[in-house]
Amino acid sequence: MKMEKNPSCKRFNLRDLEVFPNTILSPMDGVTDAPFRRLCRVLSGNRMGLLVSEFVPTDGDAVFNPEGHKQLRFFPEERPFGVQIFGRFPDRMADAARKIAAKYSPEYIEVNAGCPAPKVAGKGSGSGLLRDLPRLQEILHDVRSALDRSGADIPLTLKCRIGWDSESINIMEALAIAEGEGVEMLTVHGRTRLQGYNGLADWDWIGKAAAAAKIPVIGNGDVNSVDVARERIENYGVAGVAIGRGAMHNPWIFGQIADAWEDKPARVITAAEALDVFKLYYGFKIEDGSTDKGAEGRLKQLAARLCKGFCLDERGGEADGESLDVALQVRQALLSSSCAAELLDRAQSLKEGLAKDLVFDPGRLVNLNGAKETEIKYGDQFKGR
Ligand SMILES: Cc1cc2nc3c(=O)[nH]c(=O)nc-3n(C[C@H](O)[C@H](O)[C@H](O)COP(=O)(O)O)c2cc1C
Repeated sequence: MKMEKNPSCKRFNLRDLEVFPNTILSPMDGVTDAPFRRLCRVLSGNRMGLLVSEFVPTDGDAVFNPEGHKQLRFFPEERPFGVQIFGRFPDRMADAARKIAAKYSPEYIEVNAGCPAPKVAGKGSGSGLLRDLPRLQEILHDVRSALDRSGADIPLTLKCRIGWDSESINIMEALAIAEGEGVEMLTVHGRTRLQGYNGLADWDWIGKAAAAAKIPVIGNGDVNSVDVARERIENYGVAGVAIGRGAMHNPWIFGQIADAWEDKPARVITAAEALDVFKLYYGFKIEDGSTDKGAEGRLKQLAARLCKGFCLDERGGEADGESLDVALQVRQALLSSSCAAELLDRAQSLKEGLAKDLVFDPGRLVNLNGAKETEIKYGDQFKGR
């Protein structure tokens, strides 16, 4: 199949909605709640493309009640905002979509066919739907019909992986089904379910889907810098990119991409600025009603990722041993804090101390799965489950 290149794609359309920059903050359960989305929005000057909820379960409730799902909370300034739902029962998915559309009027509803967790995929939801394409089709059909019948004239979108495992890659079939059922945007995470988050995403499959699609295909997997975003869009013909873990490593990334697309000078983030983010994030979490303990957990979650971008080498590249050592000490200092207040105090003193000579260069990270950065291993973390 011919892979169409996409030399200057900076925006795409989701039906009538023009999306600029052509980025999506990829949903991450337990991460991309309203405060995290707000953090990315503020740091990116509100130029983020699309925002979407963490996935909302529909399997558990005999009768879906939108009030019971904290993932549905979002603020008017987050629009255009999508709500993602997951489940394996077409009628429950349809009922949930209809109720969510009626209560929140999101800009779109997305079906998740990507989650690899055993408690989701193992039961046939999330990426489990890739082992049962007729069921995926029924879900898409019923959700679309429910939206139409209720007068909710909003796009239905799909996010999926490339297949269950390397022996059963079926992204092209999933694309054909999606288009046949009126799906208006497909985000493809270039891993199989069996891979979990290991190894690197297979962008060749993403590119093949993009080349065959009539709808916008958004590529997803391992995008962590402006350069990588540009390279993926240009070389794989995708309409845009969805960025998940890359935003935890670098919550400025959406604004940096928007700047690059507008030919504005690249904004360099210093390590000191990066350390200031914790105070901002803490404030957002508390304003959102989080407990202090809850906020501490999220600060550490962010610290674990953000500090990996610290190094002494200003021009990036392979950070040397000394550089990694100092960066590691900064990370350890934050992660070993006994409470949020201590973490915030430490972040302040690190700015003038240990972190003084560090730069922030998250683009040099290759592998975002938490393993050694340069390690490329094709995993089978869910084998047998
Ligand atoms: C902690 C975590 C939670 C996630 N939760 C969701 C989710 O709720 N819905 C979804 O579609 N994908 C979810 N994902 C997958 C991401 O959206 C994304 O597809 C994946 O991380 C690959 O993109 P990345 O390399 O940019 O992180 C999650 C990923 C992580 C790491």
